Amino acid sequence: EKGGYKHFMAKEIAEQPVVLADALTHYLQGDTINLPETVDFTGIERLTLVACGTAFYACQTAKYWFEKLAGIPCEIDVASEFRYREPPMPARSVALFVSQSGETADTLAALRYCNEKVEKTIAVINVPTSTMAREADIALPIHAGIEVGVASTKAFTCQLLTLAVLALKAGLDRGHLSPEAARKHMEALRALPGLMNAGLGIGERIAELSNQLAEAQDILFLGRGPLYPLAMEGALKLKEISYIHAEGYASGELKHGPIALIERTVPVIVFAPHDGLFDKTVSNMQEVMARHGKVLLVSDAQGLTEASEGTWATLQLPEVLEPWAPILYALPAQLLAYHTAIAKGTDVDQPRNLAKSVTVE
Ligand code: M6R
Repeated sequence: EKGGYKHFMAKEIAEQPVVLADALTHYLQGDTINLPETVDFTGIERLTLVACGTAFYACQTAKYWFEKLAGIPCEIDVASEFRYREPPMPARSVALFVSQSGETADTLAALRYCNEKVEKTIAVINVPTSTMAREADIALPIHAGIEVGVASTKAFTCQLLTLAVLALKAGLDRGHLSPEAARKHMEALRALPGLMNAGLGIGERIAELSNQLAEAQDILFLGRGPLYPLAMEGALKLKEISYIHAEGYASGELKHGPIALIERTVPVIVFAPHDGLFDKTVSNMQEVMARHGKVLLVSDAQGLTEASEGTWATLQLPEVLEPWAPILYALPAQLLAYHTAIAKGTDVDQPRNLAKSVTVE
């Protein structure tokens, strides 16, 4: 059932081009976004996104998309905080809950709270028969197929894709995005499975680097804009399965504290596609290199041409339309954790102390 792979996690990483392509056929048909009619963001005052763990990082990424593409004020929180904050909610709000299992106790409690307070609740889930799918006003499956590995991989990218489609729908509903711009984005989303397929090739290079990464005590991940949540997701993945201490930071935050950690033995992984924020991220990366940090730069051809000098290593991914980079850059985040864990000899699919589904708070 592992389909020739050593671990479910490896299989689920490799499956992403296929499951993303499948999700795309459900949600995009030609130039039409295929969502239930009740998914409508017209006149909505606020969008609230709530989840735990990796699903929370998907929400945090989507906040950038909803704000930029749809101009919709967007609040995000982890479910364990949200539920006890009992936040005031404008009645004309949509509240969106993201959960692979659809059973996570805190996220479910947050959904139940919002069911009483807002116009519409949406659950973005992988298990269509789950409690959240039943209890939300609208349930949207992410079409990832069963995910066995405790470390969430394909569910994350399929969550991102579903949220991306929702952000485009919100942009069109609110007149913030022109139909031409939306079409361009749809094309870019359709290109993702092919780009992912090409991107999977970096696994070999990552396997070569993993012995050195496995020796580290601490690893930092940096990103800006929508790559910032991915930095945190990369750190979470690495902590979960390799037990190496890792932190994800917005690269601009580095000089506000974490730069004190930098020394020769600390690998710093930088997610920096050649986008509008590239130069800013590179300047933070140079601050790391000036303090002898060991930088692994993940970028595209143009980015690597401009900024490889002085790095410890580089990984090249194909170019991708700006806002959707986190979907493609999830691959190195996942593969770095996977190969480092293999190098350390930990149990990749059943990491210590963790359960696939957290149904108690
Ligand atoms: O089933 P859910 O998506 O609600 O689970 C949320 C988190 O428990 C989950 O993403 C967890 O952080 C994963 N182990 C991350 O790899």
